[in-house]
Amino acid sequence: MKEAQGACAPTAPVSQGTLDKVLQEVDRIAQTFTIDRESLQRITDHFVKELERGLGNEDGDIPMNVTWVMNQPTGYETGQFLTVDFGGTNLRVCNVTLTEEKGGCELTQHKFKLSKHMRKCTADELWGFIADRINDFIQEHNLRPHNSEKLPLAFTFSYPVTQDNIRHGVLQRWTKGWDISGVEGHDVVAQLEQALEQRNIPVHIVALVNDTTGALIASAYRDPEVKVGSILGTGCNAAYMEKCGRIPKIASHNLPADQLVGINTEYGAFDNSHQVLPRCDFDLEIDRASPRPGQQTYEKMVAGLYTGELFRLIIVHLHDTVGFLEGCDLRRLRDVHAMESSVLSRMEEENATPESTMVETRTMLKQEFGIEPTLEELKICCLLAEIVCMRAARLYACGIAAICKKEGVTRGRVGVDGSAFSKNYKFKERAAAALREILEWPAEEEDLITFVPAEDGSGIGAALIAALTVGNH
Ligand code: BGC
Repeated sequence: MKEAQGACAPTAPVSQGTLDKVLQEVDRIAQTFTIDRESLQRITDHFVKELERGLGNEDGDIPMNVTWVMNQPTGYETGQFLTVDFGGTNLRVCNVTLTEEKGGCELTQHKFKLSKHMRKCTADELWGFIADRINDFIQEHNLRPHNSEKLPLAFTFSYPVTQDNIRHGVLQRWTKGWDISGVEGHDVVAQLEQALEQRNIPVHIVALVNDTTGALIASAYRDPEVKVGSILGTGCNAAYMEKCGRIPKIASHNLPADQLVGINTEYGAFDNSHQVLPRCDFDLEIDRASPRPGQQTYEKMVAGLYTGELFRLIIVHLHDTVGFLEGCDLRRLRDVHAMESSVLSRMEEENATPESTMVETRTMLKQEFGIEPTLEELKICCLLAEIVCMRAARLYACGIAAICKKEGVTRGRVGVDGSAFSKNYKFKERAAAALREILEWPAEEEDLITFVPAEDGSGIGAALIAALTVGNH
């Protein structure tokens, strides 16, 4: 019988000699992934300086993009808006109606999974695809502009852009594995509008929004204690409101010093100059294999697109060097990004009961990767998942702690969206514990800054920003 690709020889007990070597190497790797309190604090302090630097005129690692979102919603915003969210993994089109009653809204939506091959398609294909999905949505819901005007659209584009105003955004660089030529250095609003016009789709873009800004506005609207909006999904980032007087790079606009404006930090780029983050060989490998080596250093250690990949690289390394999963054919695990971060979470969750025999993980590894580890090996896999995810959560806390320190926020909430945060086993608890270590809250105090699930940023948040922009408030 022909052996299935990636199949494993019948599970045989691992020899003690091999096991010892594997455990020794796992221990070594664990040490390179461990970040103690002192290091967390050192990283955070450097982070604070870099956030400051990004607001100034000289170039630093963190872009600190000015979003031109100048107002906070009051709850009395009204109007009907289309919203489109082009993030890392899905495309979502919504029709949002902000109703007369305070805080009222209605929403209908369609979500499309973006195939991996789209990450390298042409600019025309990308904008054409988005325009077509908008058109399908309009047709299906029979949406018509009032008074023959065009339908207003808020476009959530979750990549770093330089904005002169809210209806404009020049892509600085693709992140999250996207690599479509002809977009970097260009205004994405103009490119999408061109695709809409070519198809006679009666839609015009009233606001370009980052997902973090949407999350901040939507969350602060429901809960004024939310001071930071953050995403931890495929990518990682945060936004907050800053006083214009503290942003030297927009001094020429002569805005009132106390006027608030949304800053999309784009802090996934933190430490691109490699000064503080303790990168190990696996991080270097991830960077090398990415379409933009040298970029998004922090994001590559923290975000969902990369934790599964880090784990995969470690498993393959242990197999090749010390005989871990001896007898298994790791072919299916050799492809870049073969493993999603949700796999790690599922493993860790099942392992939470110490007596678990890991039935689900066993089935999943066999079905998805064709490998059949012994129970001992499965437990090692769980340990590795914990090592990778613990580091991600602890480093994630540094960015949030840095914004809070810089802004003098000692109490408040952080609205977080993204599957790596909401679906990953214990991520929130681990990040909260690290935040406590960094900010040194007294043991008897409850957490002073807490993580809460963000409100719908790219639907309701984007519609609110659109309403504020067109003056429906
Ligand atoms: C992008 C950000 C975005 C974040 C979360 C990063 O890769 O650069 O704009 O907010 O991912 O989606």
